[in-house]
Amino acid sequence: MDSAPPLDIHKHWTAGGFCLTSIFWMSVATFAGLLGATELIAPDLTEGIGWLVFGRVRPIHINLVLFGFVTPGLLGAAFYFVPRLLRTPLFSEHLGLVTVVGWNATLVAVVWTLAAGYSQGREYAEMIWPVDIMVAGVFVLSVINILMTVRRRKEKVLYVSVWYVCAALVLTSLTYSLGNVIWRPDSGALAGIPDAIILWFYGHNVFGLLLTPLSAAAAYYIIPRACRAPLYSHTLSLLGFWSLLVVYTHIGTHHLLQVPVPTWLKVVAIVDSVAMVIPVMAFLINIWYTARGRLGEIHADIGAKFVFTGTIMYFFVSIQGSMMSLPQVQRVTHFNNWVVAHAHVGVLGFAGMIALGALYYVVPRIAGRPLYSRLLADFQYWMVLIGVTGFTIVLTIAGLLQGNAWLNGETVYRVLPEIHMYYIVRAGLGLMIFLSAVIGVVNLWRTLLAAKPTEVLP
Ligand code: HEM
Ligand code: HEM
Repeated sequence: MDSAPPLDIHKHWTAGGFCLTSIFWMSVATFAGLLGATELIAPDLTEGIGWLVFGRVRPIHINLVLFGFVTPGLLGAAFYFVPRLLRTPLFSEHLGLVTVVGWNATLVAVVWTLAAGYSQGREYAEMIWPVDIMVAGVFVLSVINILMTVRRRKEKVLYVSVWYVCAALVLTSLTYSLGNVIWRPDSGALAGIPDAIILWFYGHNVFGLLLTPLSAAAAYYIIPRACRAPLYSHTLSLLGFWSLLVVYTHIGTHHLLQVPVPTWLKVVAIVDSVAMVIPVMAFLINIWYTARGRLGEIHADIGAKFVFTGTIMYFFVSIQGSMMSLPQVQRVTHFNNWVVAHAHVGVLGFAGMIALGALYYVVPRIAGRPLYSRLLADFQYWMVLIGVTGFTIVLTIAGLLQGNAWLNGETVYRVLPEIHMYYIVRAGLGLMIFLSAVIGVVNLWRTLLAAKPTEVLP
Protein backbone atom coordinates (compact mmCIF):
# COMPACT_ATOMS: atom_id res chain seq x y z
CA MET A 1 0.00 0.00 0.00
CA ASP A 2 1.00 3.63 -0.32
CA SER A 3 3.29 5.13 2.23
CA ALA A 4 2.82 8.69 1.00
CA PRO A 5 2.73 11.58 3.44
CA PRO A 6 -0.71 13.16 3.79
CA LEU A 7 -1.51 15.59 0.98
CA ASP A 8 -2.52 19.15 1.72
CA ILE A 9 -6.02 18.62 3.05
CA HIS A 10 -7.12 22.15 2.17
CA LYS A 11 -6.67 21.34 -1.51
CA HIS A 12 -9.05 18.38 -1.76
CA TRP A 13 -11.62 20.42 -3.65
CA THR A 14 -12.30 17.81 -6.26
CA ALA A 15 -12.71 14.88 -3.88
CA GLY A 16 -14.68 17.00 -1.42
CA GLY A 17 -16.87 18.42 -4.18
CA PHE A 18 -17.74 14.96 -5.48
CA CYS A 19 -18.49 13.76 -1.93
CA LEU A 20 -20.86 16.67 -1.32
CA THR A 21 -22.50 16.05 -4.69
CA SER A 22 -23.13 12.43 -3.79
CA ILE A 23 -24.45 13.16 -0.30
CA PHE A 24 -26.90 15.77 -1.56
CA TRP A 25 -28.21 13.91 -4.60
CA MET A 26 -28.67 10.68 -2.65
CA SER A 27 -31.49 12.29 -0.73
CA VAL A 28 -33.10 13.74 -3.87
CA ALA A 29 -32.74 10.39 -5.66
CA THR A 30 -34.22 8.34 -2.83
CA PHE A 31 -37.06 10.85 -2.52
CA ALA A 32 -37.85 10.33 -6.22
CA GLY A 33 -37.80 6.54 -5.58
CA LEU A 34 -40.17 6.98 -2.67
CA LEU A 35 -42.49 9.10 -4.80
CA GLY A 36 -42.49 6.43 -7.51
CA ALA A 37 -43.19 3.70 -4.95
CA THR A 38 -46.10 5.71 -3.53
CA GLU A 39 -47.56 6.15 -7.00
CA LEU A 40 -47.44 2.38 -7.50
CA ILE A 41 -49.67 2.07 -4.42
CA ALA A 42 -51.95 5.00 -5.26
CA PRO A 43 -51.73 5.60 -9.03
CA ASP A 44 -54.22 8.48 -8.97
CA LEU A 45 -52.23 10.44 -6.42
CA THR A 46 -50.55 12.73 -8.95
CA GLU A 47 -53.31 12.75 -11.54
CA GLY A 48 -53.19 15.86 -13.68
CA ILE A 49 -49.67 16.85 -12.56
CA GLY A 50 -47.67 16.00 -15.67
CA TRP A 51 -44.18 16.34 -14.25
CA LEU A 52 -44.96 13.96 -11.40
CA VAL A 53 -46.30 11.01 -13.42
CA PHE A 54 -44.57 7.67 -12.77
CA GLY A 55 -43.10 7.55 -16.28
CA ARG A 56 -41.09 10.70 -15.50
CA VAL A 57 -40.33 10.09 -11.83
CA ARG A 58 -38.87 6.62 -12.49
CA PRO A 59 -36.10 7.74 -14.92
CA ILE A 60 -35.34 10.68 -12.62
CA HIS A 61 -34.88 8.23 -9.72
CA ILE A 62 -32.70 5.87 -11.71
CA ASN A 63 -30.48 8.47 -13.35
CA LEU A 64 -30.02 10.29 -10.04
CA VAL A 65 -29.05 7.15 -8.11
CA LEU A 66 -26.59 6.19 -10.85
CA PHE A 67 -25.06 9.56 -11.79
CA GLY A 68 -26.02 11.67 -8.76
CA PHE A 69 -25.33 9.39 -5.81
CA VAL A 70 -23.28 6.25 -6.51
CA THR A 71 -20.88 7.44 -9.24
CA PRO A 72 -19.96 10.79 -7.59
CA GLY A 73 -19.54 9.06 -4.19
CA LEU A 74 -17.10 6.57 -5.68
CA LEU A 75 -15.38 9.31 -7.70
CA GLY A 76 -15.00 11.42 -4.56
CA ALA A 77 -13.05 8.52 -3.08
CA ALA A 78 -11.09 7.94 -6.29
CA PHE A 79 -10.01 11.59 -6.49
CA TYR A 80 -8.79 11.19 -2.92
CA PHE A 81 -6.91 7.91 -3.15
CA VAL A 82 -5.51 7.97 -6.71
CA PRO A 83 -3.13 10.88 -5.94
CA ARG A 84 -2.08 9.13 -2.72
CA LEU A 85 -1.44 5.83 -4.42
CA LEU A 86 0.62 7.62 -7.07
CA ARG A 87 2.38 9.85 -4.50
CA THR A 88 1.53 12.81 -6.77
CA PRO A 89 -0.93 15.67 -6.34
CA LEU A 90 -3.98 15.62 -8.59
CA PHE A 91 -3.13 17.03 -12.04
CA SER A 92 -5.48 20.01 -11.59
CA GLU A 93 -7.76 20.82 -8.67
CA HIS A 94 -9.15 23.70 -10.77
CA LEU A 95 -10.13 21.32 -13.55
CA GLY A 96 -11.61 19.07 -10.86
CA LEU A 97 -13.66 21.94 -9.50
CA VAL A 98 -14.94 22.78 -12.99
CA THR A 99 -15.85 19.09 -13.36
CA VAL A 100 -17.79 19.07 -10.09
CA VAL A 101 -19.70 22.23 -11.03
CA GLY A 102 -20.37 20.82 -14.52
CA TRP A 103 -21.47 17.52 -13.00
CA ASN A 104 -24.04 19.27 -10.79
CA ALA A 105 -25.26 21.45 -13.66
CA THR A 106 -25.72 18.21 -15.63
CA LEU A 107 -27.77 16.67 -12.82
CA VAL A 108 -30.00 19.74 -12.69
CA ALA A 109 -30.47 19.44 -16.46
CA VAL A 110 -31.29 15.72 -16.04
CA VAL A 111 -34.06 16.43 -13.54
CA TRP A 112 -35.37 19.43 -15.42
CA THR A 113 -35.59 17.80 -18.84
CA LEU A 114 -36.96 14.47 -17.64
CA ALA A 115 -39.57 16.16 -15.40
CA ALA A 116 -40.61 18.34 -18.35
CA GLY A 117 -41.13 15.21 -20.42
CA TYR A 118 -38.09 15.51 -22.69
CA SER A 119 -36.97 11.91 -22.95
CA GLN A 120 -35.56 9.61 -25.60
CA GLY A 121 -37.52 6.77 -24.00
CA ARG A 122 -34.61 4.29 -23.89
CA GLU A 123 -33.99 2.79 -20.45
CA TYR A 124 -30.80 4.11 -18.80
CA ALA A 125 -30.37 6.36 -21.87
CA GLU A 126 -33.41 8.58 -21.46
CA MET A 127 -31.56 11.88 -21.52
CA ILE A 128 -31.88 14.07 -24.61
CA TRP A 129 -28.87 14.95 -26.74
CA PRO A 130 -27.72 18.21 -25.08
CA VAL A 131 -27.75 16.47 -21.68
CA ASP A 132 -25.90 13.47 -23.17
CA ILE A 133 -23.18 15.84 -24.33
CA MET A 134 -22.96 17.30 -20.83
CA VAL A 135 -22.66 13.81 -19.27
CA ALA A 136 -20.00 12.74 -21.79
CA GLY A 137 -18.22 16.07 -21.22
CA VAL A 138 -17.87 15.67 -17.44
CA PHE A 139 -16.65 12.11 -17.88
CA VAL A 140 -14.01 13.28 -20.36
CA LEU A 141 -12.86 16.02 -17.95
CA SER A 142 -12.51 13.39 -15.21
CA VAL A 143 -10.53 11.14 -17.56
CA ILE A 144 -8.12 13.98 -18.39
CA ASN A 145 -7.53 14.77 -14.72
CA ILE A 146 -6.92 11.16 -13.69
CA LEU A 147 -4.81 10.15 -16.71
CA MET A 148 -2.63 13.26 -16.44
CA THR A 149 -2.08 12.47 -12.76
CA VAL A 150 -1.05 8.94 -13.73
CA ARG A 151 1.28 10.36 -16.36
CA ARG A 152 3.04 12.64 -13.84
CA ARG A 153 3.19 10.03 -11.10
CA LYS A 154 6.14 9.55 -8.78
CA GLU A 155 5.12 5.99 -7.87
CA LYS A 156 6.07 3.55 -10.64
CA VAL A 157 3.88 0.64 -9.56
CA LEU A 158 0.21 1.05 -10.38
CA TYR A 159 -1.91 -0.43 -7.60
CA VAL A 160 -5.04 -2.23 -8.82
CA SER A 161 -7.37 0.57 -7.63
CA VAL A 162 -5.72 2.94 -10.13
CA TRP A 163 -6.24 0.40 -12.94
CA TYR A 164 -9.93 0.13 -12.07
CA VAL A 165 -10.51 3.91 -11.88
CA CYS A 166 -8.78 4.55 -15.22
CA ALA A 167 -10.70 1.72 -16.91
CA ALA A 168 -14.05 2.84 -15.49
CA LEU A 169 -13.67 6.44 -16.64
CA VAL A 170 -12.16 5.79 -20.07
CA LEU A 171 -14.54 2.97 -20.97
CA THR A 172 -17.65 4.76 -19.69
CA SER A 173 -16.82 7.85 -21.76
CA LEU A 174 -16.88 5.54 -24.78
CA THR A 175 -19.82 3.29 -23.92
CA TYR A 176 -21.99 6.22 -22.82
CA SER A 177 -21.49 7.93 -26.18
CA LEU A 178 -22.06 4.68 -28.08
CA GLY A 179 -25.10 3.56 -26.11
CA ASN A 180 -26.72 6.97 -26.39
CA VAL A 181 -25.98 7.05 -30.13
CA ILE A 182 -24.82 10.62 -29.77
CA TRP A 183 -24.07 10.97 -33.47
CA ARG A 184 -27.85 11.01 -34.00
CA PRO A 185 -28.98 14.02 -31.92
CA ASP A 186 -32.65 13.87 -32.96
CA SER A 187 -33.51 10.33 -31.85
CA GLY A 188 -30.43 9.14 -29.94
CA ALA A 189 -31.23 5.71 -31.31
CA LEU A 190 -30.55 3.27 -34.11
CA ALA A 191 -33.43 1.43 -35.75
CA GLY A 192 -34.96 -1.87 -34.63
CA ILE A 193 -33.06 -4.75 -33.04
CA PRO A 194 -29.55 -3.21 -33.43
CA ASP A 195 -30.79 -0.40 -31.21
CA ALA A 196 -31.83 -2.82 -28.47
CA ILE A 197 -28.44 -4.54 -28.68
CA ILE A 198 -26.40 -1.33 -28.49
CA LEU A 199 -28.64 0.04 -25.73
CA TRP A 200 -28.13 -3.00 -23.51
CA PHE A 201 -24.44 -3.21 -24.39
CA TYR A 202 -24.27 0.22 -22.79
CA GLY A 203 -26.97 -0.40 -20.15
CA HIS A 204 -25.27 -3.32 -18.47
CA ASN A 205 -21.90 -1.63 -18.78
CA VAL A 206 -23.18 1.15 -16.53
CA PHE A 207 -23.06 -1.56 -13.85
CA GLY A 208 -20.17 -3.61 -15.25
CA LEU A 209 -17.74 -0.98 -16.44
CA LEU A 210 -18.65 1.97 -14.23
CA LEU A 211 -20.14 1.02 -10.86
CA THR A 212 -18.36 -2.34 -10.45
CA PRO A 213 -14.78 -1.19 -11.19
CA LEU A 214 -15.19 2.02 -9.17
CA SER A 215 -16.58 0.00 -6.25
CA ALA A 216 -13.79 -2.57 -6.56
CA ALA A 217 -11.22 0.25 -6.63
CA ALA A 218 -12.61 1.73 -3.40
CA ALA A 219 -12.77 -1.68 -1.68
CA TYR A 220 -9.19 -2.51 -2.72
CA TYR A 221 -8.05 0.76 -1.16
CA ILE A 222 -10.17 0.91 1.98
CA ILE A 223 -10.21 -2.71 3.22
CA PRO A 224 -6.42 -3.25 3.44
CA ARG A 225 -5.95 0.17 5.02
CA ALA A 226 -8.72 -0.32 7.57
CA CYS A 227 -7.33 -3.78 8.41
CA ARG A 228 -3.76 -2.47 8.43
CA ALA A 229 -2.81 -5.51 6.38
CA PRO A 230 -1.29 -5.98 2.93
CA LEU A 231 -3.55 -7.07 0.10
CA TYR A 232 -3.84 -10.88 0.07
CA SER A 233 -2.72 -11.24 -3.56
CA HIS A 234 -1.71 -8.73 -6.23
CA THR A 235 -1.78 -11.46 -8.89
CA LEU A 236 -5.38 -12.29 -8.03
CA SER A 237 -6.27 -8.61 -8.21
CA LEU A 238 -4.99 -8.44 -11.79
CA LEU A 239 -6.75 -11.68 -12.70
CA GLY A 240 -9.97 -10.12 -11.42
CA PHE A 241 -9.36 -6.89 -13.35
CA TRP A 242 -8.59 -8.44 -16.73
CA SER A 243 -11.25 -11.15 -16.51
CA LEU A 244 -13.81 -8.44 -15.67
CA LEU A 245 -12.87 -6.56 -18.83
CA VAL A 246 -12.93 -9.69 -20.96
CA VAL A 247 -16.17 -11.15 -19.62
CA TYR A 248 -18.37 -8.22 -18.55
CA THR A 249 -18.10 -6.17 -21.73
CA HIS A 250 -20.43 -8.28 -23.86
CA ILE A 251 -23.07 -9.80 -21.60
CA GLY A 252 -25.62 -6.99 -22.08
CA THR A 253 -27.69 -9.21 -24.37
CA HIS A 254 -28.81 -11.21 -21.30
CA HIS A 255 -31.39 -8.41 -20.98
CA LEU A 256 -32.75 -9.42 -24.38
CA LEU A 257 -33.22 -13.17 -24.09
CA GLN A 258 -36.93 -12.81 -24.91
CA VAL A 259 -36.19 -10.65 -27.96
CA PRO A 260 -35.38 -11.81 -31.53
CA VAL A 261 -31.67 -10.98 -31.40
CA PRO A 262 -29.27 -13.44 -33.08
CA THR A 263 -29.02 -16.71 -31.12
CA TRP A 264 -25.21 -16.70 -31.12
CA LEU A 265 -25.26 -13.36 -29.30
CA LYS A 266 -27.60 -14.74 -26.66
CA VAL A 267 -25.36 -17.80 -26.23
CA VAL A 268 -22.27 -15.61 -25.76
CA ALA A 269 -24.17 -13.46 -23.24
CA ILE A 270 -25.39 -16.48 -21.26
CA VAL A 271 -22.04 -18.29 -21.21
CA ASP A 272 -20.14 -15.20 -20.13
CA SER A 273 -22.77 -14.26 -17.56
CA VAL A 274 -22.02 -17.60 -15.90
CA ALA A 275 -18.27 -17.02 -16.41
CA MET A 276 -18.68 -13.82 -14.38
CA VAL A 277 -18.00 -16.06 -11.40
CA ILE A 278 -14.27 -15.71 -12.27
CA PRO A 279 -13.84 -11.92 -11.83
CA VAL A 280 -16.38 -11.87 -9.00
CA MET A 281 -14.69 -14.58 -6.93
CA ALA A 282 -11.17 -13.33 -7.73
CA PHE A 283 -12.16 -9.98 -6.24
CA LEU A 284 -14.10 -11.36 -3.28
CA ILE A 285 -11.53 -14.00 -2.26
CA ASN A 286 -8.85 -11.32 -2.35
CA ILE A 287 -10.81 -8.87 -0.20
CA TRP A 288 -12.14 -11.47 2.23
CA TYR A 289 -8.73 -13.12 2.71
CA THR A 290 -7.21 -9.69 3.33
CA ALA A 291 -9.80 -9.12 6.05
CA ARG A 292 -9.58 -12.67 7.48
CA GLY A 293 -9.06 -12.54 11.23
CA ARG A 294 -9.38 -8.75 11.22
CA LEU A 295 -13.13 -8.26 11.33
CA GLY A 296 -12.68 -6.26 14.54
CA GLU A 297 -10.83 -3.57 12.60
CA ILE A 298 -13.53 -3.58 9.93
CA HIS A 299 -16.21 -3.20 12.56
CA ALA A 300 -14.33 -0.33 14.20
CA ASP A 301 -14.21 1.74 11.01
CA ILE A 302 -17.70 2.69 9.79
CA GLY A 303 -16.43 3.29 6.25
CA ALA A 304 -14.88 -0.18 6.06
CA LYS A 305 -18.02 -1.68 7.60
CA PHE A 306 -20.18 -0.30 4.77
CA VAL A 307 -17.64 -1.42 2.19
CA PHE A 308 -17.30 -4.94 3.58
CA THR A 309 -21.09 -5.34 3.66
CA GLY A 310 -21.14 -4.15 0.06
CA THR A 311 -18.78 -6.97 -0.90
CA ILE A 312 -21.14 -9.55 0.65
CA MET A 313 -24.01 -8.05 -1.35
CA TYR A 314 -21.81 -8.32 -4.45
CA PHE A 315 -21.59 -12.04 -3.86
CA PHE A 316 -25.38 -12.38 -3.66
CA VAL A 317 -26.19 -10.12 -6.60
CA SER A 318 -23.67 -11.85 -8.84
CA ILE A 319 -24.79 -15.40 -8.05
CA GLN A 320 -28.37 -14.25 -8.58
CA GLY A 321 -27.40 -12.44 -11.81
CA SER A 322 -25.71 -15.51 -13.28
CA MET A 323 -28.84 -17.56 -12.47
CA MET A 324 -31.12 -14.92 -14.01
CA SER A 325 -29.17 -15.18 -17.24
CA LEU A 326 -30.38 -18.75 -17.79
CA PRO A 327 -33.41 -18.72 -20.14
CA GLN A 328 -35.35 -21.23 -18.04
CA VAL A 329 -35.03 -19.04 -14.95
CA GLN A 330 -35.73 -15.84 -16.84
CA ARG A 331 -39.03 -17.25 -18.11
CA VAL A 332 -40.29 -16.66 -14.55
CA THR A 333 -38.20 -13.68 -13.45
CA HIS A 334 -38.19 -11.41 -16.51
CA PHE A 335 -40.43 -8.32 -16.75
CA ASN A 336 -41.40 -8.24 -13.08
CA ASN A 337 -40.35 -7.12 -9.62
CA TRP A 338 -37.76 -9.89 -9.28
CA VAL A 339 -35.49 -7.79 -11.53
CA VAL A 340 -36.24 -4.65 -9.51
CA ALA A 341 -35.13 -6.55 -6.38
CA HIS A 342 -31.91 -7.63 -8.12
CA ALA A 343 -31.34 -4.03 -9.26
CA HIS A 344 -31.55 -2.71 -5.69
CA VAL A 345 -29.26 -5.42 -4.31
CA GLY A 346 -26.74 -4.45 -7.01
CA VAL A 347 -26.95 -0.69 -7.20
CA LEU A 348 -27.83 0.02 -3.56
CA GLY A 349 -26.63 -3.10 -1.66
CA PHE A 350 -23.32 -3.46 -3.49
CA ALA A 351 -22.26 -0.24 -5.24
CA GLY A 352 -24.33 2.11 -3.04
CA MET A 353 -23.07 0.55 0.21
CA ILE A 354 -19.48 0.82 -1.04
CA ALA A 355 -20.10 4.44 -2.12
CA LEU A 356 -21.45 5.23 1.36
CA GLY A 357 -18.48 3.45 2.93
CA ALA A 358 -16.13 5.43 0.71
CA LEU A 359 -17.83 8.68 1.79
CA TYR A 360 -17.58 7.77 5.46
CA TYR A 361 -13.94 6.77 5.00
CA VAL A 362 -12.82 9.73 2.91
CA VAL A 363 -14.82 12.70 4.25
CA PRO A 364 -13.24 12.74 7.75
CA ARG A 365 -9.81 12.39 6.15
CA ILE A 366 -10.42 15.30 3.80
CA ALA A 367 -11.87 17.37 6.64
CA GLY A 368 -9.02 16.41 8.94
CA ARG A 369 -11.25 15.59 11.87
CA PRO A 370 -13.22 12.61 13.13
CA LEU A 371 -16.72 11.90 11.90
CA TYR A 372 -19.37 14.20 13.42
CA SER A 373 -21.41 11.28 14.76
CA ARG A 374 -20.58 7.58 14.65
CA LEU A 375 -24.01 6.87 16.11
CA LEU A 376 -25.82 8.53 13.20
CA ALA A 377 -23.55 6.73 10.74
CA ASP A 378 -24.36 3.38 12.37
CA PHE A 379 -28.03 4.30 12.23
CA GLN A 380 -27.76 4.95 8.51
CA TYR A 381 -25.88 1.67 8.05
CA TRP A 382 -28.67 -0.33 9.69
CA MET A 383 -31.46 1.56 7.92
CA VAL A 384 -29.88 0.93 4.52
CA LEU A 385 -29.09 -2.71 5.34
CA ILE A 386 -32.59 -3.44 6.67
CA GLY A 387 -34.11 -1.42 3.81
CA VAL A 388 -32.29 -3.19 1.01
CA THR A 389 -32.78 -6.64 2.57
CA GLY A 390 -36.47 -5.88 3.00
CA PHE A 391 -36.71 -4.63 -0.60
CA THR A 392 -35.14 -7.88 -1.76
CA ILE A 393 -37.58 -10.05 0.17
CA VAL A 394 -40.81 -8.26 -0.75
CA LEU A 395 -39.93 -7.50 -4.36
CA THR A 396 -38.71 -11.06 -4.96
CA ILE A 397 -41.98 -12.48 -3.61
CA ALA A 398 -43.98 -9.98 -5.68
CA GLY A 399 -41.90 -10.90 -8.73
CA LEU A 400 -42.51 -14.62 -8.27
CA LEU A 401 -46.27 -14.00 -7.97
CA GLN A 402 -46.20 -11.94 -11.15
CA GLY A 403 -43.98 -14.37 -13.06
CA ASN A 404 -46.05 -17.41 -12.19
CA ALA A 405 -49.29 -15.59 -12.91
CA TRP A 406 -47.97 -14.70 -16.36
CA LEU A 407 -46.94 -18.30 -17.04
CA ASN A 408 -50.40 -19.44 -15.98
CA GLY A 409 -52.05 -16.92 -18.29
CA GLU A 410 -53.58 -14.85 -15.48
CA THR A 411 -54.68 -11.31 -16.35
CA VAL A 412 -52.81 -8.32 -14.95
CA TYR A 413 -55.81 -6.84 -13.13
CA ARG A 414 -56.08 -9.99 -10.99
CA VAL A 415 -52.38 -9.97 -10.10
CA LEU A 416 -52.05 -6.31 -9.13
CA PRO A 417 -54.23 -6.59 -5.97
CA GLU A 418 -52.13 -9.62 -4.92
CA ILE A 419 -48.90 -7.61 -4.91
CA HIS A 420 -50.43 -4.42 -3.45
CA MET A 421 -49.38 -5.28 0.12
CA TYR A 422 -45.77 -5.88 -1.00
CA TYR A 423 -45.76 -2.45 -2.65
CA ILE A 424 -46.90 -0.88 0.64
CA VAL A 425 -44.10 -2.60 2.59
CA ARG A 426 -41.59 -1.52 -0.08
CA ALA A 427 -42.69 2.11 0.27
CA GLY A 428 -42.31 1.86 4.07
CA LEU A 429 -38.79 0.51 3.71
CA GLY A 430 -38.07 3.21 1.13
CA LEU A 431 -39.15 5.88 3.61
CA MET A 432 -36.56 4.50 6.05
CA ILE A 433 -33.83 4.65 3.43
CA PHE A 434 -34.82 8.19 2.44
CA LEU A 435 -34.79 9.40 6.06
CA SER A 436 -31.42 7.78 6.66
CA ALA A 437 -30.11 9.56 3.55
CA VAL A 438 -31.15 12.89 5.06
CA ILE A 439 -29.38 11.95 8.29
CA GLY A 440 -26.30 11.09 6.21
CA VAL A 441 -26.38 14.58 4.70
CA VAL A 442 -26.36 16.17 8.16
CA ASN A 443 -23.62 13.87 9.46
CA LEU A 444 -21.22 14.21 6.54
CA TRP A 445 -21.98 17.89 5.97
CA ARG A 446 -21.15 18.71 9.59
CA THR A 447 -18.00 16.63 9.38
CA LEU A 448 -16.83 18.34 6.22
CA LEU A 449 -17.82 21.94 6.76
CA ALA A 450 -18.68 22.56 10.40
CA ALA A 451 -15.36 23.71 11.86
CA LYS A 452 -11.73 24.30 11.00
CA PRO A 453 -9.56 21.23 10.34
CA THR A 454 -7.65 20.12 13.40
CA GLU A 455 -5.84 16.92 12.55
CA VAL A 456 -4.94 14.61 9.68
CA LEU A 457 -6.26 11.08 10.06
CA PRO A 458 -4.03 8.21 8.88
C1 HEM B 1 -22.42 -11.74 -12.29
C2 HEM B 1 -22.93 -10.56 -12.28
C3 HEM B 1 -24.30 -10.22 -12.82
C4 HEM B 1 -25.07 -10.86 -13.72
C5 HEM B 1 -24.74 -12.13 -14.50
C6 HEM B 1 -26.29 -10.10 -13.86
C7 HEM B 1 -27.36 -10.46 -14.68
C8 HEM B 1 -28.48 -9.70 -14.89
C9 HEM B 1 -29.57 -10.05 -15.76
C10 HEM B 1 -29.66 -11.32 -16.57
C11 HEM B 1 -30.46 -9.04 -15.74
C12 HEM B 1 -31.73 -8.91 -16.57
C13 HEM B 1 -32.87 -9.59 -15.97
C14 HEM B 1 -34.10 -9.50 -16.79
O1 HEM B 1 -34.39 -8.45 -17.40
O2 HEM B 1 -34.80 -10.49 -16.81
C15 HEM B 1 -29.96 -8.05 -14.83
C16 HEM B 1 -30.58 -6.87 -14.53
C17 HEM B 1 -30.02 -5.87 -13.77
N1 HEM B 1 -28.80 -5.92 -13.12
FE1 HEM B 1 -27.58 -7.50 -13.00
N2 HEM B 1 -26.25 -9.03 -13.03
C18 HEM B 1 -25.04 -9.06 -12.39
C19 HEM B 1 -24.56 -8.13 -11.48
C20 HEM B 1 -25.11 -6.90 -11.29
C21 HEM B 1 -24.51 -5.85 -10.52
C22 HEM B 1 -23.18 -5.96 -9.79
C23 HEM B 1 -25.34 -4.78 -10.59
C24 HEM B 1 -25.20 -3.43 -9.99
C25 HEM B 1 -24.05 -2.84 -9.77
C26 HEM B 1 -26.48 -5.17 -11.41
C27 HEM B 1 -27.54 -4.37 -11.72
C28 HEM B 1 -28.60 -4.73 -12.50
C29 HEM B 1 -29.73 -3.85 -12.76
C30 HEM B 1 -29.92 -2.42 -12.26
C31 HEM B 1 -30.61 -4.57 -13.56
C32 HEM B 1 -31.98 -4.07 -14.06
C33 HEM B 1 -31.90 -3.63 -15.47
C34 HEM B 1 -33.28 -3.23 -15.95
O3 HEM B 1 -33.70 -2.11 -15.61
O4 HEM B 1 -33.92 -4.01 -16.64
N3 HEM B 1 -26.31 -6.46 -11.80
N4 HEM B 1 -28.74 -8.47 -14.31
C1 HEM C 1 -29.89 5.03 -3.16
C2 HEM C 1 -30.69 4.02 -3.09
C3 HEM C 1 -31.36 3.43 -4.30
C4 HEM C 1 -30.80 2.93 -5.43
C5 HEM C 1 -29.32 2.84 -5.73
C6 HEM C 1 -31.88 2.51 -6.31
C7 HEM C 1 -31.74 1.96 -7.57
C8 HEM C 1 -32.76 1.66 -8.45
C9 HEM C 1 -32.63 1.08 -9.77
C10 HEM C 1 -31.30 0.72 -10.43
C11 HEM C 1 -33.86 0.92 -10.30
C12 HEM C 1 -34.21 0.32 -11.66
C13 HEM C 1 -34.76 -1.06 -11.43
C14 HEM C 1 -35.16 -1.83 -12.66
O1 HEM C 1 -35.69 -1.27 -13.61
O2 HEM C 1 -34.98 -3.06 -12.70
C15 HEM C 1 -34.80 1.41 -9.33
C16 HEM C 1 -36.16 1.43 -9.50
C17 HEM C 1 -37.03 1.82 -8.54
N1 HEM C 1 -36.72 2.18 -7.24
FE1 HEM C 1 -34.90 2.47 -6.46
N2 HEM C 1 -33.07 2.74 -5.67
C18 HEM C 1 -32.78 3.30 -4.44
C19 HEM C 1 -33.66 3.68 -3.47
C20 HEM C 1 -35.00 3.57 -3.60
C21 HEM C 1 -35.92 3.97 -2.60
C22 HEM C 1 -35.59 4.58 -1.23
C23 HEM C 1 -37.14 3.73 -3.08
C24 HEM C 1 -38.41 3.95 -2.36
C25 HEM C 1 -39.24 3.01 -2.15
C26 HEM C 1 -36.99 3.18 -4.43
C27 HEM C 1 -38.02 2.83 -5.28
C28 HEM C 1 -37.90 2.46 -6.59
C29 HEM C 1 -39.00 2.30 -7.51
C30 HEM C 1 -40.47 2.51 -7.21
C31 HEM C 1 -38.46 1.89 -8.72
C32 HEM C 1 -39.22 1.61 -10.03
C33 HEM C 1 -39.57 0.15 -10.06
C34 HEM C 1 -40.51 -0.20 -11.17
O3 HEM C 1 -40.34 0.28 -12.30
O4 HEM C 1 -41.44 -0.99 -10.91
N3 HEM C 1 -35.66 3.09 -4.70
N4 HEM C 1 -34.11 1.85 -8.21
